[in-house]
Amino acid sequence: MNLFHRDKAEKKQNEGKNETPFVATKKFPPAENVRLTTHALSISIGGVPILKHVNVDIPRNKITCIIGPSGCGKTTLLRTFNRLVDTIEGVKITGVVMFGERNIVTAGPSELTDIRRTIGFVPQRPCPLPMSIYDNIAYGCRIHGIKGRHKLDATVEHYLRAVGLWEEVRDRLHSPASKLSGGQQQRLCLARSLAVEPSYLLADESTSALDPISSRTVEELFVKLKKDYSIVMVTHTLQQARRIADHVIFMYLGEVIEEGDADQVFNNPKNELTKRYLDGAFS
Ligand SMILES: Nc1ncnc2c1ncn2[C@@H]1O[C@H](COP(=O)(O)OP(=O)(O)OP(=O)(O)O)[C@@H](O)[C@H]1O
Ligand SMILES: [Mg+2]
Repeated sequence: MNLFHRDKAEKKQNEGKNETPFVATKKFPPAENVRLTTHALSISIGGVPILKHVNVDIPRNKITCIIGPSGCGKTTLLRTFNRLVDTIEGVKITGVVMFGERNIVTAGPSELTDIRRTIGFVPQRPCPLPMSIYDNIAYGCRIHGIKGRHKLDATVEHYLRAVGLWEEVRDRLHSPASKLSGGQQQRLCLARSLAVEPSYLLADESTSALDPISSRTVEELFVKLKKDYSIVMVTHTLQQARRIADHVIFMYLGEVIEEGDADQVFNNPKNELTKRYLDGAFS
């Protein structure tokens, strides 16, 4: 169902309700076979290896969780998918990151704009734009051609509801986003990324600043979203990964140690290091 053609009766029915009347809608579904993969991806910064010969294949319409101890390269890998590492001083990138037919590593500026719209990134630390709550969501929508007060209002409400924030902010939509709490800012940034309807959503510890209830709201949202989006989520919480992952990538010291179906990785890991990490031998 298209967001902008939602039946009025359904809209009325949802008015004032606290729960999320979320229906994922895709305006630009990509070709079925567009996948996100890396081949021999290596990154060093100032001569220090950060990612070492990484080969991963992110499945479509699933939740992929990237797990591993602090400093093992999870964020760097996620940022590479959005070409956010090449401005780091002393960075050297070899190998390829394929998104369909495109190599993200060598994409030109115009391709990059399209890639970043199609692959949304929600960073580890929430970074709301220095504007109102409303405009944080409306800004990207305007750039991507959603015009008219009514459509923008509907879009802002839709995505604020999607992240469980609507009831908390509906009376102060035009106050600065910077006045929100850390957890609220995290959810606002998630809503902002969703509002431009990416195909892939990269989420770097998106629930780390959230209380358990908000955290579950986001988890439930991701589970709903995977019908239309492919989600790559970095998490430090193994329980969370066990709850929602379909596919798991375990990293250690810049290498992918194991990648596979969540059930296999969690219940029958092939690698001894994966076993030890899952057993809590190190974190
Ligand atoms: N801009 C940078 N300059 C120099 N080194 C960096 C930079 N960004 C990351 N690194 C290094 O790369 C390594 C991997 O960092 P990354 O942030 O990818 O780890 P991570 O697995 O996400 O860790 P965490 O779980 O703590 O968030 C770390 O040793 C880090 O110090
Ligand atoms: Mg990180």
